[in-house]
Amino acid sequence: MTDTTPELGTGVPRREGRDKVAGAARYAAEYAPPGRAHAWPVPATVAAGSVRSVDDTAALALPGVLAVLTAENTPPLAPADDPVLDVLQNADVPHRGWIVALVVAETLEAARAGAQAVRVSYDTRPHDVTLTRDHPDRYVPENANGGHPAVRERGDAPGAFADAPVRVDAAYDVPPLHNHPMEPHAATAFWADGHLTAHDSSQGGNAVRAALAQVFDLPEERVTVTSAHVGGGFGSKGTPRPHVVLAALAARHTGRPVTLALPRRDLPASVGHRAPTLHRVRLGADSDGRLLSVEHTALTHTSRVKEFVEQAAVPARVMYGSPHSSTVHEVVPLDVATPSWMRAPGEASGMYALEAAMDELAERAGLDPVELRVRNDPADEPDSGRPFSSRHLVECLREGARRFGWQDRDPRPGVRREGPRLTGTGVAAATYPVLVSPCRASATALPDGGYRVRVNATDIGTGARTVLGQIAADALGVPGDRLRVEIGDSDLPRAPLAGGSSGTASWGWAVHEACTTLARRLAGNPEPPSGGLTAEADTTEAVEAGSPYARHAFGAHFAEVRVDTDTGEVRVLRAYSHFAAGRILNARTARSQFLGGMVMGIGMALTERSTLDPAFGGFVERDLAAYHVPVSADVPAPPAIDAGWFDERDPHLNPVGGKGIGEIGIVGMAAAVGNAAHHATGVRFRSLPLTPDKVR
Ligand code: MOS
Repeated sequence: MTDTTPELGTGVPRREGRDKVAGAARYAAEYAPPGRAHAWPVPATVAAGSVRSVDDTAALALPGVLAVLTAENTPPLAPADDPVLDVLQNADVPHRGWIVALVVAETLEAARAGAQAVRVSYDTRPHDVTLTRDHPDRYVPENANGGHPAVRERGDAPGAFADAPVRVDAAYDVPPLHNHPMEPHAATAFWADGHLTAHDSSQGGNAVRAALAQVFDLPEERVTVTSAHVGGGFGSKGTPRPHVVLAALAARHTGRPVTLALPRRDLPASVGHRAPTLHRVRLGADSDGRLLSVEHTALTHTSRVKEFVEQAAVPARVMYGSPHSSTVHEVVPLDVATPSWMRAPGEASGMYALEAAMDELAERAGLDPVELRVRNDPADEPDSGRPFSSRHLVECLREGARRFGWQDRDPRPGVRREGPRLTGTGVAAATYPVLVSPCRASATALPDGGYRVRVNATDIGTGARTVLGQIAADALGVPGDRLRVEIGDSDLPRAPLAGGSSGTASWGWAVHEACTTLARRLAGNPEPPSGGLTAEADTTEAVEAGSPYARHAFGAHFAEVRVDTDTGEVRVLRAYSHFAAGRILNARTARSQFLGGMVMGIGMALTERSTLDPAFGGFVERDLAAYHVPVSADVPAPPAIDAGWFDERDPHLNPVGGKGIGEIGIVGMAAAVGNAAHHATGVRFRSLPLTPDKVR
């Protein structure tokens, strides 16, 4: 592609930035069609069992309460592909917090009061929410999340490990984590002449439309889903969620538009979580630190509702060359809420364990941890044998080390001491696969000389509108301010979700095709056609043709931490990460995403944790006070935290040339912080997060 305009790559400001700061950007719960009512959920207060009865007398007697929906009075829905959407269909309570009733009222306050007045009685059964390494119900599934085979074996890994002169055998654990986007999950739904409209806070409206059409047994043309502005998702809005089905049910039941905004306290049980993972990593190397054997086993939990297996051993199939390898996933079904995607599912957890173990191996081998990784950089993808389309991990390690100032590091742990405070530095690698999905788009030359691009992309806060505008402007060879970008509505050309770091590649490919086709048709036609001219694109065939290459983005994180041995507090003083993620299309929004991922990784390392209460069966941390997402006071201020990148040109990706940047920032960050904490103290911490109680 040619750089015909300065648009591509520069830090073009967000198209909707002004609307957002002025309060003009509308989010799902802010649509108020005439007669709009509000709903409030009633979550189960037992850990497992069934609803015996629901007494709604007191709730219905309250002023403003319109209806109480239960499994008793809700007509059957068609079963959803995703059983977490089978709401109010029977009396079963698969986990604490499962929604067993919904109150609809004239106001939000009346709905909440009504929900508190509903009396539910239950029959309970014994429950178990505790994942243990020797849990009797653990099994090896066929596949982990993402269709990855649960088990991959090359050579004789245990045998090679037994004979290796340098060995690490360590267990790591990552607790359940919650996405907690700023905007809780919300939908405003209404029915008109048999057509269902839902304004939903979602990462992908086409999947929501398909799910609503399925459960309400409608053709998709009779369902419209919009997601014009979305206040974050981090994976929890990547699949349709129960709130949108409940809002549509309530709207049908009452004949009114209904808004359901899930209270934050109900998110942990309703919208997925990063499942806890218990890791065992065994690395065997020769005396020069060259890997002979890599073994990674990841044990996780799933719910009784469906099998979801965190694919945490997958990155060990990609990262380092080794003649022998074994990567295994195991899972235990428990009476827990159903886990799902959370930013870099699989990679974030798996790379914590693998990169912490690499740090331990470096110490055993007497090698600098950067050098250990350089020494084990493979020519081809270890597990598949396929060539990498491009792999610049070594360059990221070297450039990151240079910019961070790694060279002067004293490798001995526990030597930088000032009174009770110990300081240390750590490094870890990052990786994330290049994913892409089929997409359609249209581009129109308007009679007034402007242009319009349409694609049902979703901007979850990343700047999707802006980057798609840059791609279109570049392909058309026109300035971005001549372009209108329409996204976030299922009546637009069909598009995949904002997830898997694949949005820009998937949507951008279709937008690029539509715009280049339009530009060709307009060529030699200086006057805009009187009726406008539209070109359409569909990348299905090109995307499904696949690639013979192993395609991944890579990066390297460097962190400096200070550990206070009196209080047990670990603080990140500095962090620098360097990435090679293909072509970077907008320097400003890309930097935000990299930094956001790094900050989320600092949270994973130091402050974030959900706890399953064995007695009552639910998550304990259910608000932003108990579940501590790092705030500004917890992270270094720029420039002490910064991200950089190579402008990597990889011809084996897509016409736009990006590898995806939404997730790689979190991958490996927790290991860099943990490795720095070891360097500071000489103590190996193998259980996240590194809270003061563990450190002191
Ligand atoms: Mo992201 S966890 O792929 O939405």
